Amino acid sequence: MKVLLTGGTGFIGSHTAVCLIESGHTAVLYDNLSNSKPEVVDAIETITGARPAFVEGDIRDGAKLVETLKAYEIDAVIHFAGLKAVGESVEKPLLYYDNNIAGTVTLLQAMKECGVNKLIFSSSSTVYGTPVSLPLTEDMPTGTPTNPYGRTKLMIEEILRDLCEAQPEFAAVCLRYFNPIGAHDSGLIGEDPNGIPNNLLPYVARVASGKLEYVRVFGDDYPTPDGTGVRDYIHVVDLARGHVDALTYAENHAGWEAINLGTGRGSSVLEVIAAFEKACGKKLPYKVLQRRAGDIAANWCCPDKAEKLLGWKAQYGIAEMCSSSWKFERMHTQAK
Ligand code: NAD
Ligand code: UFG
Repeated sequence: MKVLLTGGTGFIGSHTAVCLIESGHTAVLYDNLSNSKPEVVDAIETITGARPAFVEGDIRDGAKLVETLKAYEIDAVIHFAGLKAVGESVEKPLLYYDNNIAGTVTLLQAMKECGVNKLIFSSSSTVYGTPVSLPLTEDMPTGTPTNPYGRTKLMIEEILRDLCEAQPEFAAVCLRYFNPIGAHDSGLIGEDPNGIPNNLLPYVARVASGKLEYVRVFGDDYPTPDGTGVRDYIHVVDLARGHVDALTYAENHAGWEAINLGTGRGSSVLEVIAAFEKACGKKLPYKVLQRRAGDIAANWCCPDKAEKLLGWKAQYGIAEMCSSSWKFERMHTQAK
């Protein structure tokens, strides 16, 4: 298939582009570069031997989207583009609603105009809100996300559900990611946030490379085995493969689906630090601080639906996630 990847030069988009190309699909990357760099296209070419087309554009620019969908005769869209910083979304809700919600509606209108009716959407476990019980299954009711970012994910899922009702030929697969970490084993693409990282893994990686002094552990008084927060970390390469499988599914099934992508196993903050210490071969200093506002104690998923519908199952564990993340960090640190 010829696939448009909005947000295609980002962390998850770039790994998915590699996976799509390696599976024989054509990938066209569409990104406004607000949180990624054009050099990612070179890295994808180095890894796969094929250079994907890249269009610098914004998902709020309907005319450019129509032009791109037509020019590349796109069959399906994987929609990664979006802003994702939880704290920033609290400070700038309108920016998030404009970029994520208005951007998605513009994309859907452009797809309609061009007769493209298959979409894979980057949703998030945040749509479940505070879990009532674990593991999380897709038939559980969605909850109340604790911030505007999370609400954009839930609203987009609902917009897609309404669209599928109105246009029965439309296929929308909402992939509810748990916590994507790790990097491609080449070390050429990975997660490289600007400024001080919000998320645990890039923060730990920067402590390992000496760019940050110690890991801040946000709370050790949660009702979890060691008191620190538990999450279902998923290797970004496994996640990328899930998109290719979802595309095959959407090719054969119209309608709306939500599917969890996670390993089904939770790891605590202290377990992640220990796994990273093993990967980098050094002790990592940490300090226990207050809980972070809005954090839940634990979440992990039941990944059975993904296996049943997509034939997908995570292959990598926390050791491979940390070692690939460390390789990317090292290559990156040396390159700078
Ligand atoms: P990322 O920031 O690396 O990638 C998103 C890309 O979208 C960036 O390259 C950015 O430049 C681009 N973009 C943003 N707004 C745009 C716009 N208006 N027009 C065009 N391009 C735009 O983030 P990621 O981690 O790769 O996340 C991809 C998607 O997955 C996002 O929608 C995110 O909300 C979702 N998600 C991520 C996580 C996670 O922990 N990484 C978890 C759940 C869901
Ligand atoms: N944590 C620390 N120190 C840090 C960063 C995080 O102890 O410096 C802890 C958190 O308290 C939490 C765990 O590490 O227990 C994971 O935190 P992250 O910030 O890495 O990830 P979150 O689970 O908070 O959020 C992620 C994405 C969101 C998404 C959510 C659900 O960042 O975008 O998963 O999918 F909504």
